[in-house]
Amino acid sequence: MLQEGNKIIDEARQGEVLDRKQNKDGSQKKLFLESYGCAMNFSDSEIVASILKADGFTTTTDFNEADVIFVNTCAIRENAEQRVRARLHDFKKAKKNNPSLLVGVLGCMAERLKSKLMEEEKLVDIVAGPDSYRDLPNLIEKVTEEGQKAINVLLSREETYADISPVRLGGSGVTAYISIMRGCDNMCSFCVVPFTRGRERSRDPESIVKEAEQLFADGYREVTLLGQNVDSYLWNGGGLKKDLDAETVQKALAHEHDKVKQAEFVTFADLLEKVALVNPELRVRFSTSNPRDITDAVLYSIVKHDNICNYIHLPVQSGSTRMLEKMNRGYSREQYIKLIESINRIIPGCAISTDVMTGFCSETEEDHQETLSLMELVQYDFAYMFAYSERPGTLAARQYEDDITAAIKSRRLAEIVSTQQKLSAQRTAKGVDKIHRVLVEGFSKKSKEFLSGRNDQNTVVVFPKEDFKVGEYVNVYVDKCTVATLIGKAVQ
Ligand code: SAH
Ligand code: F3S
Repeated sequence: MLQEGNKIIDEARQGEVLDRKQNKDGSQKKLFLESYGCAMNFSDSEIVASILKADGFTTTTDFNEADVIFVNTCAIRENAEQRVRARLHDFKKAKKNNPSLLVGVLGCMAERLKSKLMEEEKLVDIVAGPDSYRDLPNLIEKVTEEGQKAINVLLSREETYADISPVRLGGSGVTAYISIMRGCDNMCSFCVVPFTRGRERSRDPESIVKEAEQLFADGYREVTLLGQNVDSYLWNGGGLKKDLDAETVQKALAHEHDKVKQAEFVTFADLLEKVALVNPELRVRFSTSNPRDITDAVLYSIVKHDNICNYIHLPVQSGSTRMLEKMNRGYSREQYIKLIESINRIIPGCAISTDVMTGFCSETEEDHQETLSLMELVQYDFAYMFAYSERPGTLAARQYEDDITAAIKSRRLAEIVSTQQKLSAQRTAKGVDKIHRVLVEGFSKKSKEFLSGRNDQNTVVVFPKEDFKVGEYVNVYVDKCTVATLIGKAVQ
């Protein structure tokens, strides 16, 4: 009887859920999902897609046929938000044609502006911050059933979406992101991320390794471990880092405990090795390393496993110690240079890329020259370069004047960009007349007769297709190059 009773209840529930998942004509509801900003946001969108898939949605690439449009947004610079606002206007017409269409804003801009976003952008029905994605089905229901706008911008100290298997959106089926932590505790004075993504928390390493194993079984050959500050990753058997005293955390991160005590922790160096051991044919990349936290242990993990790529993204922001202090970055020019020396010593030939931010409050011509000279000294392989954009609520916005004019910012940025172009061209040229192991990711942009992939150091390599396939490793002898691409031919 009881069993039968349960069964009836289950069926009734299933019926309810199906009603919610389908349109009136019985068709499945369609989600259009668009992402802006950093890799973490693209990775989050795959979690969102997974949550909505479990709620009966399918995805569409045409927003005109969508029942729900979600825009996963970025708030890092003002122009990132302006782009999203412009995009929202494109959806107005779609909403006119289909009044039951829901438009939701997710991610960092949603978290930053909260209900103000709904007041300012009338077509927005749902606002959801980065830690509230499990609530999206309820938020959608609230809007459809009750005709109200819905918002959830609560930040969590625990949420890591560890149990959710992301739906891999787009991509080649060869490379994938795995989020290993969320949030950031660093409080760089210019940065809005600690406010929009909340406190730092690490994800259970077992769930990370499982995700990597599943990806490998599905044919993926490269994973990128993602976090705002991967070197600060720390797992202690389920307890959260915030519950530990500062000294224990510091010692654990630096691998300074005795062996027994250290075994209680999984640091980023340990995690890298665990993922590398999934399969030697699985390449492991990671981003972002923070100069304040990266340890030699991480460098030795990279050296120990051939499949951990010799490539480190190490944002410097500025070459001036005075600026770095004002930015609250936690390292000086000299310490950064020492770190680069350690990398070059421990991992000879390691590629290094960076983020540079120009025109921060009170930056002088001398400070700027120090940034250019540091770039020359390090010889970065690649750089993301930005002009400072004041973000409301940050320490810099509250305490410092944004006193560098737009004209000076853009002139300095242009100088930084041209310095980097020269360095990148030199870097690419060094790859000529060598054999590179390339993981094939797809066709070259210019011709279907050529395949394209990347070498260990993350440089794009293009070569004639012959019989090679996407997802294979191919040894390519490179005989020429453009500014950013190596060109060659497969060899045995
Ligand atoms: N977690 C990463 C950075 C995340 S934000 C780290 O450790 O550095 C990505 C980059 O955006 C930053 O490295 C910085 O160069 C840039 N950025 C952050 N805030 C900015 C702002 N207010 N204006 C301009 N660029 C900014
Ligand atoms: Fe931002 Fe600094 Fe964290 S740049 S994301 S506060 S490391």
